[in-house]
Amino acid sequence: MGKVALITGVTGQDGACLAEFLLARGYRVHGLTRRPAEARGGRLAHLHAGPPGSGAPLELHFGDLLDGPGLDRLLRRLRPDEVYNLAAQSHVHLSFEVPEHTAEVGALGPLRLLEAIRAAGLAPTARFYQASTSELFGDGAEVPQRETTPFAPVSPYAAAKQFAHAVTAIYRRAHGLFACNGILFNHEGPTRGEAFVTRRITRGVAAIHHGLARRLVLGNLEARRDWGHVRDYVEGMWLMLQQPAPDDYVLATGRSHSVRDFVEAAFAETGRRLAWHGRGLDERGLDARTGEVLVAVDPALFRPAEVERLVGDAAKARERLGWRPRTGFAELVREMVACDLADLDPAPLRPPREIPAAFCTAPIPEGAVPRT
Ligand code: NAP
Ligand code: GDD
Repeated sequence: MGKVALITGVTGQDGACLAEFLLARGYRVHGLTRRPAEARGGRLAHLHAGPPGSGAPLELHFGDLLDGPGLDRLLRRLRPDEVYNLAAQSHVHLSFEVPEHTAEVGALGPLRLLEAIRAAGLAPTARFYQASTSELFGDGAEVPQRETTPFAPVSPYAAAKQFAHAVTAIYRRAHGLFACNGILFNHEGPTRGEAFVTRRITRGVAAIHHGLARRLVLGNLEARRDWGHVRDYVEGMWLMLQQPAPDDYVLATGRSHSVRDFVEAAFAETGRRLAWHGRGLDERGLDARTGEVLVAVDPALFRPAEVERLVGDAAKARERLGWRPRTGFAELVREMVACDLADLDPAPLRPPREIPAAFCTAPIPEGAVPRT
C-alpha cells in the first residue's frame, strides 16, 4: 500500500499540482475542500477524483479550516502519513479588506489542524507541511532572503502566516511532530488564480491578442518578485517531508523580475514590443509599432502597504534536499501565455483543448497548445 496524504486547499493552484505529483508517486490522496462536488471539475478534472469512501486514488472530503471539530473527525478517520496544509485566503491585497477572515483561516486554521493531528494521536507518526511564505520577510533589510532573515510582515495575510509559521515550529518542538515550514517565494503556472498578477497579465495579453480586450490595467509595475514554476515547488514541499528530521526551508529561484519585466516578456510572446511613456499613475505601455495603448495603471490596484522587492536564497534546500528549480522565467512566461492564448482562442472550428493527463507536473508537450 502506498502512503496516505491529506491536502487542504486541494482545489488551489498548489493543491491540485501537489495532488497530481503525489498520485504519480503511488500515494492515496485525500483532498479537503469547501465545495467537493464542484471541485471534481476545474483544476482537478483530469485527476478523476471521487467522493469519500469511493476508493478513487483522489478522494474529496468536505471540510473547512474554520471548523475544528470537522478537522478532528477527518484526521481520526483518515490517519494520514503526510498532511499538507495549503488552504488559505491567499490574496495579499484582499487581506487588507478581510483581515479577520484571513487570520481565521491563515493563522487559526493551521492551529486547528495541528490540534486535530495531536488529538488523533498522530504526532509521533504523521508528517506536516505548512505553506509558509516569502511575504513574511516584508521589506526586510537582507537581500536575498533566507531562513535566518528576520520576518517583518506588512499585510494581514503575512501577519496571519507568521502566526502559523511560529505555531508549526512550536508543535515540532513541544509535541515532537515532524512539522516543516516551506517558506516559498512566488510560484506560478497556467492554472494560477486569475487575481494574481502573472495570470492577470498572461490572460490580458491573450485577450488583447485575440481582439477580446483592448488594454491591460495593472497596479504597481515596479514591484519585484522571485517567480518560479509551481511544478518545481510542489516537489520541494514533498522533499521536505521525506527527510530524516523536520526543518524549515526557503524555496526560490534566486532571480527577481519586476511586474513591468513580466508584462514585456508576455507581450513579446505575441510579437508585440512595448514603449513606456509617462510616470507613476500616468504611465502607459504603448505598442511600439502602432502607438496603441496596451497597458495602463489604476491606483485602485495598489496596496495600502507593499512589499517592493523579494528575492530568495534557496541554498539550504539545494544542499539538504537536493532541490533546484528547473523552470526559468522566460519558460514560465512562455508556457502561461501559450495556455491562455489557447484557452481564449475564439476560432470557431478549433477543437476543444484536451487537458494532458499530466498537466501540471510535466511541461506542456510541444503541439498540445497552438503556437501563434
Ligand atoms: P490558492 O490557489 O488561492 O488556493 C487556496 C486554497 O485554499 C483553495 O483550494 C481554497 O479552497 C482553500 N481555502 C480557502 N479558505 C479555506 C477554508 N476556510 N477552509 C478550507 N480551505 C480553504 O493558493 P495557492 O497559490 O495554491 O497557494 C497555496 C498555499 O501556499 C496558500 O496557503 C498560500 O498562502 C501559500 N503560498 C503560495 C505561494 C504562491 O506563490 N502560490 C507562495 C507562498 C505561499 P476552496 O475555495 O475550494 O474551498
Ligand atoms: N494581484 C495583483 N494585481 N498584483 C499586482 C497588480 C494587479 O493588477 N499590479 C501590480 N501588482 C503587484 C502587487 O502589488 C505585488 O507587488 C506583485 O504584483 C505580486 O502580486 P500578486 O501576484 O498578487 O502576488 P503576491 O506577491 O502579493 O502574493 C503571492 O505570493 C506570495 C509569496 O510571496 C500569493 O501567492 C501569496 O499567497 C504568497 O504568499
